[in-house]
Amino acid sequence: MSTREQFQRPHLWYRDAVIYEVHVRAFADSNGDGIGDFPGLTSRLDYLQQLGINTIWLLPFYPSPLLDDGYDISDYYDVHPNYGTLDDFKTFLSAAHERGMFVITELVINHTSDQHPWFQRARRAAPGSAERDFYVWSSTDDRFQDVRIIFQDTETSNWAWDSESESYYWHRFFSHQPDLNWESPLVREAVIGVLDFWLDLGVDALRLDAIPYLHVQEGTNGENLPQTHEELRRLRAHVDASYGDRVLLAEANQWPQDAVAYFGDGDECHMSYHFPLMPRLYLALEHGNRLPIIEIMEQTPEIPAGAQWAIFLRNHDELTLEMVTEEERDLMWDTYAPDHRARLNLGIRRRLAPLVENDRRRLELLMSLLLSLAGTPVLYYGDEIGMGDDISLADRDSVRTPMQWNSGHNAGFSKAAPQSLYLPVVADPPFDYKMVNVEAQEDDPHSLLTWLKQMIRRRSRHLVFGRGSIRFLEPANTHVLVYLREGEGETILVLANLSEQAQSVELDLSAFSGFHLVDVIGTARLPVIDERLCSLSLDPYATLWLSIDANQGDK
Ligand code: NOJ
Ligand code: CA
Repeated sequence: MSTREQFQRPHLWYRDAVIYEVHVRAFADSNGDGIGDFPGLTSRLDYLQQLGINTIWLLPFYPSPLLDDGYDISDYYDVHPNYGTLDDFKTFLSAAHERGMFVITELVINHTSDQHPWFQRARRAAPGSAERDFYVWSSTDDRFQDVRIIFQDTETSNWAWDSESESYYWHRFFSHQPDLNWESPLVREAVIGVLDFWLDLGVDALRLDAIPYLHVQEGTNGENLPQTHEELRRLRAHVDASYGDRVLLAEANQWPQDAVAYFGDGDECHMSYHFPLMPRLYLALEHGNRLPIIEIMEQTPEIPAGAQWAIFLRNHDELTLEMVTEEERDLMWDTYAPDHRARLNLGIRRRLAPLVENDRRRLELLMSLLLSLAGTPVLYYGDEIGMGDDISLADRDSVRTPMQWNSGHNAGFSKAAPQSLYLPVVADPPFDYKMVNVEAQEDDPHSLLTWLKQMIRRRSRHLVFGRGSIRFLEPANTHVLVYLREGEGETILVLANLSEQAQSVELDLSAFSGFHLVDVIGTARLPVIDERLCSLSLDPYATLWLSIDANQGDK
């Protein structure tokens, strides 16, 4: 029996999930070649289970020249030899499933590597032939002028010259990543083949990389085109008909109105990242004011039943500032990346802990928002222990260094000689692996890791966080963000003091008169709610999760 038949996925599993994003190469090296691999990752599943996450999102691990860390795929049907074999992947997937964990892999279908046989074939094929038409060609480089350049620190055009075909080809990202031509029915068919291959192996969800850009059309900015949404409806219909319980996650770095379109009418993707919310969490923290968060959430339309936002603080890319105004971008850069080397394209290539100057209170505040706002939280590997970055490394490698397991050789990541590691371990204080590592935090009741484990467990006990509605309350004191999560027979009131001073708020909770407020995180003794304004105080950067219960219930 295949994994697919054995493994049961509970209804709405992706809404109850806590996702951990990791690159195989960065986690654990089993064979001492300096590169993390599938046997290494499999051996660390216990750690992830203890952390409390239940879904692993793997960055691309397919054969690739690795010029974009694997987002430049040269073979969709195998594992890069650096990371092991396809059998190693299958072993990992079964081991994850045995623990009740789900696995999300990447479906990169906007582009391939220029080393992919489809491209090699296309450049030699006759113009107008089906093989040639797998990609987008032009005799001039002036078509689609309204399309922006995304990697603006590296690329000057979305066209690149190919001397073999004596023609230009279209690319949104690096010039070695030609875009597939979605006008070609053969491309569509080929992509379905790839999707089937991984879903047949038992993969639970697919992250659709760079999905707004599939189609391109003269006179438009080439993003979010109706034809692109049509492709997604086709993919979804295929997934539903053939697999039922699998999930599509859209990577669409767009404003809320456009991002929400990736859910369709419940007939496109199940999940989509909330890109605009992310920088506003940092802006709110910088201003000590909830308005940036409230404003963006007010602009966020309702989503179809069953759909879910994926929310995050950091990921493997630069902290993108595409979805803010120029003024906000400048403020973010000045505050969070005063060193210009930390800036990349329209973003910041730093990790979470350095962004907040390793301030435990601000780390906890951001993480508790991540775990309690509406959506499925996505944690970036290493942030659970407050890992640092290395901006002396090129591009986004600054945030892709090896996982820090202990204070020993190579932070316990690999037995290789340090100079053989795929990237060096962070060794500079205060993020030095001798100080910041899993082992040091695992047995420490006061560590960030221990705190986060407890918070993830608390979240997982309350389905309302993943499934319930969110309603923002607007007390006069705007330093404090307040929202109610309601649903699944529960109501939880969340308060977050975004400022560095103690604050108090007065809330009208008279609709819950007679109910008890039960502290879900701490041990605060709270009044029974009555008709009067309810006054609550918070320490600097503190958070409260208060369950509103008819009876004084268990935590
Ligand atoms: C989005 C990915 O997150 C990023 O890492 C990659 O460089 C681009 N897509 C291009 O594939
Ligand atoms: Ca290895």
